[in-house]
Amino acid sequence: MPKLCVNIDHIATVREARKTTEPDPILGAKLAILGRADGITVHLREDRRHINDRDVLLLSQSIKGHLFTLEMAATDEMLDISSKVKPALVTLVPEKRQELTTEGGLNAIGQKKYLSDYLRKLHSNNLTVSIFINADKEQIKTAKDIGADFVEIHTGPYAENPNEKEFNIVKEAVFFAQGLGLKTNAGHGLNYQNTKPIAQIPNIEQLHIGHSIISRAVMVGIKEAVKEIKDLINL
Ligand code: PXP
Repeated sequence: MPKLCVNIDHIATVREARKTTEPDPILGAKLAILGRADGITVHLREDRRHINDRDVLLLSQSIKGHLFTLEMAATDEMLDISSKVKPALVTLVPEKRQELTTEGGLNAIGQKKYLSDYLRKLHSNNLTVSIFINADKEQIKTAKDIGADFVEIHTGPYAENPNEKEFNIVKEAVFFAQGLGLKTNAGHGLNYQNTKPIAQIPNIEQLHIGHSIISRAVMVGIKEAVKEIKDLINL
């Protein structure tokens, strides 16, 4: 069975809506682990719109023994941070300021030389590197050529249209990557309805799931949260 890595970015999104200290993603990470998450994932964006440097540092120190994945753009700033923080896994993602979320896999073909040098620097800092990539054989082959340890297959198109055709595209991409000797993760858009078939593809190492889990957490928690404040008002 794949490991579940819970992306907690959107706990920080709620915090940043008020620029305050709650909800704290570090506490959220600990509770996710109590819920049997195998790992915690965060995306440190250039604009720090949700997760910030303090979160990354504290998470790396406070969830030892669990997989800590840092998603990041392939920039000098992120090279510096990841080399200091030493997450269990670095996942390279494309990043655009205007996007609401990561929109597609990294174009490994288009930046082959740059990424190849970048991966060498990450590896020289003893980091394990995954590349978030579309379910495209040429891109996956390029990820292998430039020295990636893992690829994370982008499940977004399948999540938008969870039909047999899109599922088979993901499955074949996973098998193709595994055939090249790459370890394979999967993620993006996975939720309580569409995750099971992906989890059953053999030998996927990790699923990275965020938005649907945080959304569900709000819904399963709201009754208790209201009850607590109602009890306090009624005292
Ligand atoms: N994997 C990668 C590379 C991502 O960028 C994201 C979103 O931050 C996810 C997985 C999780 O996607 P979602 O929030 O839709 O579950």
